[in-house]
Amino acid sequence: MSSVAQACGKVILLGEHAVVYGVPALAVGIDRGARACAYGQDEGPSRLVIGGWNVSVQPDESHDLARAFRSMLDAASPMRPCTVDVETDLPPGGGLGCSAAIGVAIARAIDPHASADGVQALAMAWEQVFHGNPSGIDAAVSARGGCILFRKGDPIDPVRVRGSLQLCIGNSGVPSSTRAMVDGLARLRERKRDLVDESFEAIRALVQNGRLAIEAGDRGALGRLMDLNQMLLGGLFLSTPELEHMCGLAREAGAHGAKLTGAGGGGCAVALVPTRATADAVLAAWRGAGFEGFATSVATEARTVPHESGAAP
Ligand code: MEV
Repeated sequence: MSSVAQACGKVILLGEHAVVYGVPALAVGIDRGARACAYGQDEGPSRLVIGGWNVSVQPDESHDLARAFRSMLDAASPMRPCTVDVETDLPPGGGLGCSAAIGVAIARAIDPHASADGVQALAMAWEQVFHGNPSGIDAAVSARGGCILFRKGDPIDPVRVRGSLQLCIGNSGVPSSTRAMVDGLARLRERKRDLVDESFEAIRALVQNGRLAIEAGDRGALGRLMDLNQMLLGGLFLSTPELEHMCGLAREAGAHGAKLTGAGGGGCAVALVPTRATADAVLAAWRGAGFEGFATSVATEARTVPHESGAAP
């Protein structure tokens, strides 16, 4: 028996990093993501295969992906050994939730009857191997898609998107490590607690207003909030010259606003644009400066993404 499942990648519109400290954040699922197919087998050890990355590991190996696979299998309900084949079109270390999307797709494939909360819990067992102590926002949005307001420890709060959000996502070309960026900010907070906590409080206000702007369909306001969030992230040393350049190019090309998305220190920028023509202009400006990007849109509130097949491995 086999089971195929998908999961979306994510973009954080407002609130990354502060979300680790209990501040809410707004995130959306995107149409790029990961796909996993689990095949049950009668004997032999389980195996995780990510063909595009040349990865083929068994749970007892010391590779991070093997350890993450093992911790997910340990957390899942008892099952037969299985081989899981994974594909993704997300850049690793790009801030688009690649590892969470893979974790959610595997969780769905190996446990097709798991609820969204169950999938999220399995994906967290996977995520913790890579990111130490993640807030959980990546796995939460990957398990639901749409737009969510996420606050650590609270139930997921789906946000109704009025109209649609047209986004351009561009890669600065510099991979970044979420764990290293989160640890770096923790060290800064040890030295300059007031400065960091004041920024977090400002981000909290941006997120609250961002939710209202999304629900009201006020994209101009949301774009301005993204610009302000980018300033605050820059002040916390999370931006890079490449990301600042990309945000500037996007604004010049007509974006409502732009910011880094995810951990920063590299990875991707996101720009909110009014029209498809502006999206093309932003992508062309980025391409002209050597940055690859793509356009996507979000038009729904969070939902449970159905499985392609419900048979357990
Ligand atoms: C990473 O996508 C988002 C961060 O806030 C880390 C986390 O929430 O775990 C930087």
